[in-house]
Amino acid sequence: MSALRTSPLPGRLRRWSLSAGTVVALIAGVLVGGTRTSQAADSLPCDLYAAGGTPCVAAHSTTRALYSAYSGPLYRVRRASDGTTKDIGVLGAGGYADAAAQDAFCAGTNCLITLIHDQSGRGNDLNSAPTGYWPGPGPDRTDNLADATAAPVTVGGHKAYGVFVAPGTGYRDNRTNGVATGDDPEGMYAVLDGTHSDKGCCFDYGNAETTGNDDGNGTMEAVYFGTSRTWGSGAGSGPWIMADLENGLFSGVNRGYNAGDPTIDHRFTTATLKGGPDHWAIRGGNAESGGLSTFYDGVRPDAAGYDPMKKQGAIVLGIGGDNSNASAGTFYEGVMTSGYPSDSTEDAVQADINSVGYTVWSSGLVPGARISLKATTACCTGHYLRHDAADSDVVISPVSSSSAGADRANATWIVRAGLADSACVSFESADNAGQFLRHAAFELRLNADDGSRLFARDATFCPHPGNNGQGLSFPSLGYPEKEIRHFEYTGYLAGDGGSNTWDSKNYWYQDTTWLVASPLS
Ligand code: AHR
Repeated sequence: MSALRTSPLPGRLRRWSLSAGTVVALIAGVLVGGTRTSQAADSLPCDLYAAGGTPCVAAHSTTRALYSAYSGPLYRVRRASDGTTKDIGVLGAGGYADAAAQDAFCAGTNCLITLIHDQSGRGNDLNSAPTGYWPGPGPDRTDNLADATAAPVTVGGHKAYGVFVAPGTGYRDNRTNGVATGDDPEGMYAVLDGTHSDKGCCFDYGNAETTGNDDGNGTMEAVYFGTSRTWGSGAGSGPWIMADLENGLFSGVNRGYNAGDPTIDHRFTTATLKGGPDHWAIRGGNAESGGLSTFYDGVRPDAAGYDPMKKQGAIVLGIGGDNSNASAGTFYEGVMTSGYPSDSTEDAVQADINSVGYTVWSSGLVPGARISLKATTACCTGHYLRHDAADSDVVISPVSSSSAGADRANATWIVRAGLADSACVSFESADNAGQFLRHAAFELRLNADDGSRLFARDATFCPHPGNNGQGLSFPSLGYPEKEIRHFEYTGYLAGDGGSNTWDSKNYWYQDTTWLVASPLS
């Protein structure tokens, strides 16, 4: 599929008409046999929106081009070692991200995503969100930047990285060009990690206030994803796709519970929102396969202020309109359009998203393999993660091939498919069969599997490329912002900042990075 994306088609794109017939033809082309077999097969999301008469006015992705002719930069990373930055582009026009360029630039250090380029040509780039009503935790009360390696993914068979939003992280553009204001119609979609969300306010992508303040009902229109019940909720326990229209996350026509908005938690989830005069809709689906379902399509809320809307036209990612930054999520791609996209245009976009093949990135850890995990912090490069012989504590200590057999065995692990998610991993002790590395109260322990759901989740870790540009890091399945760390020679599950002493930001990137070494035993 990616090979089809190496030929720019600017002339052909310019000749496309905006007729409904063209859109139908494009959809048919995308859908034929589920493969890209016709001219229309080269149509990427913003080509499809343009053909539908609702062109993109912002297009953001760290994984791929969203126009078949786009060959510019996708995002910018800054490395900790010398503070320099690098734009990460595509492998070819209309192609996938050049993740290898990021890996080379960030080797041996930590990188953050400082900017997400707008592919629409309108300059609506997303930068670190400036302070708003709610201050950010970063310099000058800006929001934090995303760790560039925390959300690896495979797309079109290529490694790429998403934008991992931990609480405190946010991006924004308050001076946009072409984004809907007032009651003007617009649409948007985002491809997200449906397994990474929380109830904080507000993991949004879309239209918000240019002021960074809550300017009242109807002053924003952004697609929200998460488990907040503060203003609204849908069926089940969430997460839900909702509309952040300011002072309310709407799961249906009015605030509160709306049964028509289902829990949706596909690993790769497509979330859409569109709104025009007294009309708006939420749709969603599995980004890996299948179409979109409509969860709400109707009039604006009854409460004062939402009809007509008073959209201001800023763009937010990962935060609420007033810079509420307590939420988590992962973003791979998304766009905003001018005009209210038809369902058929959105269906064509979803078919394109399906076709690119978002899948989980593989760490290379194979179930059944015996490994040892070697620390990377300068203090401790001869240390390995091990359990104590005498108790259930997990620590690091120097171990080598000449160490006593018991020490080598204590520092050897058998990789298992994740007890709670086979796309992740668990680590069984090599010398204590049935006992696994798990966290309990955010401390690492070696405990026997008791078969409970809690144990399985506590013992499941979802690796990503190492935080300091080497090896791997191991966030917990249940706490994606907390990772296996050594701190004062003891093993913990630690956040990059937080309430436990072991959440210290000092050396977090190093202490959470491990080399996968040959088994010591
Ligand atoms: O509408 C929900 C949230 O309320 C908005 O995102 C934020 O601006 C306000 O706190």
